[in-house]
Amino acid sequence: RRDFTIAIDGPAASGKSSTARAVAQELGLGYIDSGSIYRCATLLALRNNIDINESAGDLAALINKAKVDIRVRPSTSRPAPNLGRLAVPEVQVLLDNEDVSKEIRAPEVNQLVAKVASDRSIREAVLHIQRQLAESAESISTNALSKNAEGVPGGVVMDGRDIGTTIFPNAELKIYLDASAMARAIRRWDEMNNQMKEANALQAAKGSSDSDSAPAAYPSVEKIARELEARDYADINREHSPLRIAKDAVVIDNTNLTFEQQVYTITDLARERM
Ligand code: C5P
Repeated sequence: RRDFTIAIDGPAASGKSSTARAVAQELGLGYIDSGSIYRCATLLALRNNIDINESAGDLAALINKAKVDIRVRPSTSRPAPNLGRLAVPEVQVLLDNEDVSKEIRAPEVNQLVAKVASDRSIREAVLHIQRQLAESAESISTNALSKNAEGVPGGVVMDGRDIGTTIFPNAELKIYLDASAMARAIRRWDEMNNQMKEANALQAAKGSSDSDSAPAAYPSVEKIARELEARDYADINREHSPLRIAKDAVVIDNTNLTFEQQVYTITDLARERM
């Protein structure tokens, strides 16, 4: 059986993760979110008070000892209206068996992660985890009509910044997913607002009256846009494995595409090459 690898790179909040998950499910491939490994590394730095400018080597040693697991399960909830008929599988990230899926998306992690990811010894430590995960990634397809169910290739979809350029330079399909800066900021803002609405509703339903449970403040689009811009700048301008369009990548700008359109563009390209 020949494995089929799809690399999806692009700037922050360009929709890589949800697109990659839907593509993996449609084609019956595994999925690995490489950004979540850098986020786990950042969480380790924050929890252990490691100053990344002074002691990157200490953090790399911690990452080498840590166990990161990414579990992907077919979505159980009804697809969101903006996703068309596609269900996006759910991802759970475990750091030493602790579910850190929410914590690795916290603002403190967003602010520090690009700095952590710019260090070479840390990228090397993360590379080992990426390799291990890629070897053990299971197919997440529940789609009996997918090519995989007919016995055609298995393999993996991995998203990140350097997957097509450095991690899988021989990937069978490389996608560079982009969108305008404003479209990306608005999408991320929407996503965060929905999560906060849910969290606040849950809090209100509990009827808790302690002062810790005041409704969380909603971030502004401008603040999110600035954060994304700073992270992209750091990712593009770093020395080791910067964000670049691989020369053989297919560039998809999804500013004006529906979610279904972009997912099917990628699955069509993949099927042509399988
Ligand atoms: O994809 P996500 O936004 O979760 O990635 C978080 C950060 O991790 C990126 O901004 C980047 O600094 C780093 N990263 C990386 N290489 C990858 C994936 C993520 O440097 N392959």
